[in-house]
Amino acid sequence: MEVIIKSDKAEASKLGAKIIARLIRENAKAVLGLATGSTPLPLYRELVRMHREEGLSFKDITTFNLDEYVGLDPANPCSFYSEMHKNLFCHLDLAKGASHLPDGMAKDIPTSCAAYEAAIKAAGGVDLQLLGIGHDGHLAFNEPGSSLASRTRLKTLSQKTIKANSRFFGSEAKVPRHVMTMGLGTIMEAKQCVLLAFGKDKAEAVRDMVEGPVSASCPGSVLQFHEQAIILLDHEAAGKLTRKQYYLDVYASKPAWQLWE
Ligand code: PGA
Repeated sequence: MEVIIKSDKAEASKLGAKIIARLIRENAKAVLGLATGSTPLPLYRELVRMHREEGLSFKDITTFNLDEYVGLDPANPCSFYSEMHKNLFCHLDLAKGASHLPDGMAKDIPTSCAAYEAAIKAAGGVDLQLLGIGHDGHLAFNEPGSSLASRTRLKTLSQKTIKANSRFFGSEAKVPRHVMTMGLGTIMEAKQCVLLAFGKDKAEAVRDMVEGPVSASCPGSVLQFHEQAIILLDHEAAGKLTRKQYYLDVYASKPAWQLWE
């Protein structure tokens, strides 16, 4: 894992956007794995700025989102499709049909999940997967206890996640109980993972992910097995890392050719 601690959320998000922009400039046909939630929003704003001001083009880019609520129509403002459309897709030059999310309205969920996996494979696999982490250590909607080898499937949200996401729905009662999510095995096949976490309420999950044992009890910890996982943090989210100073020292003394900026 490459743990990078930046001065604040804005700086960490800009670095995340630079990593994605570099990939797109090297491979105009890259496949991006995208995430929802509050965490990636500043990074998405930076990508939109780069598109408008620096000519960063997404016209041959394919995207796959991590997850979607079951039972929410894409037109529902709380669906992840709506979120992605509003915060990113509608501002970019993505081709029609190039952006994929699990189909939360699918009648046959296992078949639809298998088709999602097949579509990722057919696109050549995810080149870079953007991730956040839940307060309970979840990656995408792989709640604690998820198999580290899991594939795209139906999951039931934990009470902690329902509470955290009720801010988007107005009440806990309105949060769907079921989701379709890429599995941890699916995420681990991405060639590169970039995980963002900000704020002190993520510090415990970040510590368990980076320094805890690899365990289904903290699904994020599976990234310790990923060959190219970059963990982008602000100081607060890094607050419980016992090796925090070491991560800062590593970044400060990196040779220029290893730097992302
Ligand atoms: P958040 O969600 O970015 O809204 O904190 C992260 C997650 O649940 O993975």
